[in-house]
Amino acid sequence: MDEFENNYKQEEDRSPTGVGGFDELCGGGLLRDRTYLLSGTSGAGKTIFALQFIYNGITKYGENGIFVATEERPEHIREHALSFNWDLQALEDEGKLAIIDAASTKIGIPSQEKYVDVRPFDMRSMMDQVIMIQEDIDAKRAVVDSSTSIGFYLQDPAKIRVELLKLATTLEILGLTSLMTCEIVDDEHPSRFGVENFVTEGTIAMYYKRMENVRIRSMEIYKMRGSDHSKKIHPYDITSEGIVIHPHEEVYTVF
Ligand SMILES: Nc1ncnc2c1ncn2[C@@H]1O[C@H](COP(=O)(O)OP(=O)(O)OP(=O)(O)O)[C@@H](O)[C@H]1O
Ligand SMILES: [Mg+2]
Repeated sequence: MDEFENNYKQEEDRSPTGVGGFDELCGGGLLRDRTYLLSGTSGAGKTIFALQFIYNGITKYGENGIFVATEERPEHIREHALSFNWDLQALEDEGKLAIIDAASTKIGIPSQEKYVDVRPFDMRSMMDQVIMIQEDIDAKRAVVDSSTSIGFYLQDPAKIRVELLKLATTLEILGLTSLMTCEIVDDEHPSRFGVENFVTEGTIAMYYKRMENVRIRSMEIYKMRGSDHSKKIHPYDITSEGIVIHPHEEVYTVF
């Protein structure tokens, strides 16, 4: 890792994720006010990483957060987070976190949430909500979990590319450092529709690959515009504290 140690922007330009072992792979964290794609196969740990980024942002770095949940209902997200002792409800009550329910109405069930996205899915209305909440709670971080379900709504890759670019740019103009998760089916392609990684400033890929009779978790920083970063594939674990990456270990095995 020494090869990129001296070649990165200053710490004040960085938004540390606080995810164990991650920040040292990229000179101290993500670049501020940029949008990153967090790609991974199903069960890789994308939602956990994203929650950890938001939770640490609020509790360790004083940066409020917005979580747009397009797939899992907010009550599941809160439960999931609580299994790592991350009490999201308390942060919401303190006005430091807002979770937008973009899942319930799309499957036609009622929502008791404070922030609910309308049906049918509309990017403009989702961005309006984010803008309103950002003013409300002065957020500095955001997560859209996931970009893939937005993509399935829009269907056409050209449209997906334009709409996700609008979303990523809006988040950046609002001064939010953001993660958009992306469900991939294999580690050959860093995005689902072949466009998401082009509209984001960086791509972090998480793999959960079978190797003989076990599955191995590993991750890599696939791209990070404007920053040097590790080019290696590093193993990680999901522990009771969340995701822990092993920055000094590499996955050598050819899958
Ligand atoms: N409390 C926990 N302790 C340890 N491991 C956990 C815990 N909760 C979840 N996991 C592991 O994390 C996996 C799910 O992680 P996560 O929901 O972040 O995946 P994901 O990449 O978002 O998947 P999907 O694409 O299906 O949404 C589980 O399958 C399980 O292996
Ligand atoms: Mg998920």
